[in-house]
Amino acid sequence: MPKLLVVEASPRGEYSVSRQLAERFAEEWRGNHGGDVIVRDLATSHVPYISLPWIGGAFTPAEQHSPEMDEAIKVSDDYIAELLDADEIVIGTPMYNFSIPALLKSWIDHVVRAGVTFSMSYEGLVEGKKATVIIASGGNFAPGTPYAGLNVASDYLKQILGFIGITDVTVVLAGGTLAIDQGQTTLDAFVAQQTDVPLAAAA
Ligand SMILES: Cc1cc2nc3c(=O)[nH]c(=O)nc-3n(C[C@H](O)[C@H](O)[C@H](O)COP(=O)(O)O)c2cc1C
Repeated sequence: MPKLLVVEASPRGEYSVSRQLAERFAEEWRGNHGGDVIVRDLATSHVPYISLPWIGGAFTPAEQHSPEMDEAIKVSDDYIAELLDADEIVIGTPMYNFSIPALLKSWIDHVVRAGVTFSMSYEGLVEGKKATVIIASGGNFAPGTPYAGLNVASDYLKQILGFIGITDVTVVLAGGTLAIDQGQTTLDAFVAQQTDVPLAAAA
């Protein structure tokens, strides 16, 4: 049975555009593949920052670990196991300051691990997976628009996923959510409209 891992990074719950789009993606995926959907909600779970015990745990053999190292590295082990277990991944994230939220960066810091998800010779070790990244933003950053160059989130996510071996990445830009905040449209109407966005057009 194929598995889809959904990584959610918005703290806005039911008001989140990226969440609604990632959920819709997951529903469609389930309909098409009939597999399992696993949700890693970064906003409602505690994602610790990288710490000294974490670094010790990542760079020393397991038999030399202190209890603190074991505890710190377990989060990373769990996130990586979840990622490796999935056939496909969808990341729903807001754009924050033209980049990604700290929560998502923290998840990345846990899953990008030397000797586990990439080799010391910079080979990605996470093979055979496809990823879709949905980025909601207040402004518009579609290729060819005046502020497209400010968006560092798309390239960063493509680069870091590619670094660990996930090179089949589709980025969807759900730009212009400010119109919802300004009352020019509704969340439901905005989300419904995003079906017209071709998945491959926003990278
Ligand atoms: C801290 C913060 C930083 C933001 N930075 C940007 C930004 O750089 N560019 C932009 O277009 N929108 C920015 N926004 C707006 C969000 O990207 C927008 O509200 C988006 O819909 C959030 O995703 P969500 O609806 O999934 O929560 C920011 C919002 C917050 C709260």
